[in-house]
Amino acid sequence: EYLSTATAPGKAILLGEHAVVYGKPAIAIPVSQLRVEVTIEKFRCPDNEIWIDSPVVRLYKNVKDLPFENPLRLAIDLTKDRCTTKTFSGMMIRINSALPIGGGMGSGAAVSCALIRALSTCLDGQALPAETVNALAFEVEKIHHGNPSGVDNTVITYEQPIYFKRNTPMKMVQVGTPIHLVIADTGINSATSTMVNGVRKRYEQDKERYQGIFDSIENLVDKAHQAIEIGDINTLAMTMNENHRLLQAMEVSSFSLDRLVKTAITAGALAAKLIGAGGGGNMIALCTTETTKPVSQALNAIGAVRVFSFSLADNKGGI
Ligand code: MEV
Repeated sequence: EYLSTATAPGKAILLGEHAVVYGKPAIAIPVSQLRVEVTIEKFRCPDNEIWIDSPVVRLYKNVKDLPFENPLRLAIDLTKDRCTTKTFSGMMIRINSALPIGGGMGSGAAVSCALIRALSTCLDGQALPAETVNALAFEVEKIHHGNPSGVDNTVITYEQPIYFKRNTPMKMVQVGTPIHLVIADTGINSATSTMVNGVRKRYEQDKERYQGIFDSIENLVDKAHQAIEIGDINTLAMTMNENHRLLQAMEVSSFSLDRLVKTAITAGALAAKLIGAGGGGNMIALCTTETTKPVSQALNAIGAVRVFSFSLADNKGGI
């Protein structure tokens, strides 16, 4: 018997990953086409327990048999604490995801958001408010890596393009003209924690140099923010290309990411860069309506794993 369901989108960071951990701004957008879906059903079992069925990670388990620090268990425990209803009958939480795991698209935060919403709906008859969902998902992010900026859970909870800075209220970004994008996956997954810790180590070794890189990224993010609002695609392209170079300087790009980036540019993309923690995962290419197809074809031709295009709609005067 069906009890509740909720979904959450993936995300892409247009500019500012890694530097955002150090208090710099980032611009992130939801990727609504790729989602996580959580469905909760009644499940006959002794002691009204909660089970999880998550085929993508081959997990089928009673939640109480998971360690406390398991992200799914933590999301469930935090949600139960916040809900008014404390008694319930056995349930099966089914998690399905179209998002690559460790691919820089926020799969962890998306699972948390959808799970928190589905479970709170199931228990209390309505989902917890967005601020609470965001706060709880942030707690879970801390398990994925020790020092998350909070950009992933925020863009995924609100499902809007955002300008994000640590510990400051996020701003919605106005999009002045539609932005055409292509995302492609290297097929290599990489742990956010490893990448974030690597940057931390190199930062500690040469603070001055890294601070310089972070300052340059901040500059680019602010330029890009303005460019997106006034619909200046060429300036946006310049900032994204430059941001990729700075990510390379931070040693978070990889051979396969750079290969996809180069291929996209050669095929006519205005800009291309890695998204998220890097080391593997996905890249994003900024295209026009005319170049979306040749860029996608070129990426497919060199064996990118999942290539898809989408547009960020102009939302001026909207919402
Ligand atoms: C991961 O999607 C983005 C990073 O900047 C980490 C973070 O912000 O917590 C690499």
